[in-house]
Amino acid sequence: MKSSGSARSGKTSARPIIEIGDGVRFRVGDIAKRCLDPDTRRIHIVSNRKVSGYYGKDISKSLRKAGFELSQSLVIDGERAKSFSGLQKVLEDFSRASIRRTDACLALGGGVVGDLAGVASSVYLRGIQFIQVPTTLIAQIDASIGGKTAINSRYAKNQIGTFYEPSFILTDVAVLETLPGREFASGLYEAIKHGAVGNRKLFNETKDFIEEFPLANLRKSFAQEEFRRRLREFVSIHADFKARLVSADLREKSSRADRRSRKILNFGHTIGHALEQVSSYKHFRHGEAIGIGMLVAAEISKSLGILRSDELKLLNDAIESVGQLPPTKDIEPKHLLAALESDKKIIGNSLQWILLESIGKPKIFRHEEIGRRVISSAIFAVLGRSWNFSQFED
Ligand code: NAD
Ligand code: GLY
Repeated sequence: MKSSGSARSGKTSARPIIEIGDGVRFRVGDIAKRCLDPDTRRIHIVSNRKVSGYYGKDISKSLRKAGFELSQSLVIDGERAKSFSGLQKVLEDFSRASIRRTDACLALGGGVVGDLAGVASSVYLRGIQFIQVPTTLIAQIDASIGGKTAINSRYAKNQIGTFYEPSFILTDVAVLETLPGREFASGLYEAIKHGAVGNRKLFNETKDFIEEFPLANLRKSFAQEEFRRRLREFVSIHADFKARLVSADLREKSSRADRRSRKILNFGHTIGHALEQVSSYKHFRHGEAIGIGMLVAAEISKSLGILRSDELKLLNDAIESVGQLPPTKDIEPKHLLAALESDKKIIGNSLQWILLESIGKPKIFRHEEIGRRVISSAIFAVLGRSWNFSQFED
């Protein structure tokens, strides 16, 4: 087993502890002993069959060796697990396993498992300890960090949730070896998002990583020591970026509209969430929807005259360099616009867009400041479909 840490830093500067390394899952028991309440008796693992099949044994063995009793919930695979029934299942499993206030829940999986287990941990007995062991690239660089937990309602994605920090996050980049290429790509779109709203250095480092290690060779790359070192570094710099940004705005303060507000992480999400919703979470991976959402937001930025064409091209090229995004031909643009309108109804006047002035310079706009024609033209330009503009007149 290699030691934790990357070329830059194994632990990020923000709380909670984020341990990143190659093979660190085998040390989860020791880390749990160090970070959890000394009265912790039982750890309840939440995962799905696929991820548990790959890594459940390694995690259980290490936790048992450290003296913890174990129980588990296996939820269905995919976004549908982030539902009221998914939450009910986990909470009832907690009860059956007699989880006490001093016990802990460990999320072993991608963003779906992490978001669901996080909500359950935050409300059960008004809050039990929570551990994140993220196993997708999205979860390792984004979803496990910052304490946002959520399930979806029939009206909107992530509508029900809490802010709830885990006691620690254990990120083993070795588990990405079994991640399907499409899921890896999905994480790369979120990484591009970090660079686009963060700073040019992070954007360039992300672009270089994607170009140097093409997805088509992902399996072969994992056999190379150099790739594994670079992957560890890649995950570390992105985790560090997110941890630093959210530590200064943990609760995503509504009144903040500056370019270091946590809201900037929602770049690409206004359209991304609408796309996921109108396709019933079946057609797009989360990162892919964000990829398309970023293209639309950047197109809007150009239309408003705040983003230069060469900067737009830089972003579009980076997104394209990941591979081909799924086709959007089955998406009815008017359904997408209706989903935006419905979001607006639910959250009132607070529907906002994160746009770009240049790479690393996001700017927050209220929905009303943009105008429907600009939005629909940008959707049209990206989705490449024609429809009757007159129905979207301002
Ligand atoms: P996911 O959790 O559905 O995982 C993607 C797929 O990969 C699943 O089929 C899963 O079983 C499989 N998988 C996971 N780890 C694996 C591994 N190591 N090997 C093989 N297969 C593996 O999806 P995701 O992309 O990780 O996360 C998307 C979710 O995260 C969305 O619901 C999104 O809203 C949420 N999210 C939350 C935050 C946050 O701040 N809380 C941030 C970003 C995204
Ligand atoms: N993924 C957006 C956030 O964590 O704020």
